[in-house]
Amino acid sequence: MEFIKLSLEEELAVVTIDRPKSLNALNSQVYREIIATLRQVEAMDQVKVVILTGAGEKAFAAGADIAQMVHEDAVAGRRLSGLCHEAANLLESMRQVTIAAVNGFALGGGCELTLACDLRIAADHARFALPEVTLGIIPGGGGTQRLARIIGVGRAKELIFTGDQIDAQEAYRLGLANHVVPRDELMETCRALGKKIASRASYAVFLAKTAINSSQEIDLKNGAEREKDLLGLAFATRDKQEGMEAFLARRPPRFQDF
Ligand code: CAA
Repeated sequence: MEFIKLSLEEELAVVTIDRPKSLNALNSQVYREIIATLRQVEAMDQVKVVILTGAGEKAFAAGADIAQMVHEDAVAGRRLSGLCHEAANLLESMRQVTIAAVNGFALGGGCELTLACDLRIAADHARFALPEVTLGIIPGGGGTQRLARIIGVGRAKELIFTGDQIDAQEAYRLGLANHVVPRDELMETCRALGKKIASRASYAVFLAKTAINSSQEIDLKNGAEREKDLLGLAFATRDKQEGMEAFLARRPPRFQDF
């Protein structure tokens, strides 16, 4: 991998977009490496939480690579969008919980990667935007779909129609960032949150992630049916037995992830 660093820390995997000279701009190769890395990590049984961040102090990722896109036609643009979506879909649906550690600019395709993560923790200097209309295009990595689901249609339209940047506090106020922390505490905050989630029954966490994701795609009645099915599946796990027996015996649970 040229542009992605993977660091394994017991139950955590830290994936870093590493192209700081271009503010971690996302060209096709970077997207392909993100996709390959996420697939690799998804197959690692020991990894429960993935933290995605950007190299350097300034940017998570400043968007798709404009120097690449300027030369591209409609077919290539659509192909690039396919890669953006593939990376986003993986972050959203993979077995592990995904946390975006937003260490600066999260613009365009960079913002879209954060939108696909389960949780977003912003450093206090982070800035979010979908500035595509300032370049004559529209968001292509799920931004028109996921931003509205997270912060509401009216606010999403304003951000996308203006292309304006918002700071970390505004992102928090809108419900886009789960937490805002001082920049030198960002990774430790993400690690601590990741470790807490990893200490829970991870198959149950995955079932909960699947059920919550369904709420964004299907109606309430069918979502409730899905929840019942997934809860039934949770009841069939050893972790359910262990979690409840441990509670009744007043001891900590020893989960086995199924
Ligand atoms: N693509 C390519 N290169 C980029 C880039 C991008 N998205 N963002 C920054 N860079 C490069 C700059 O060209 C510059 O390179 P050089 O040093 O070789 O000139 C380097 O990164 C540093 O950037 P700046 O000098 O511009 O830094 P700054 O502090 O003055 O500004 C910034 C920072 C506000 C983030 C500014 O760089 C910027 O506005 N970047 C573009 C943001 C953007 O429009 N992103 C959306 C792209 S469209 C998209 O993402 C669509 C999609 O998903 C399909």
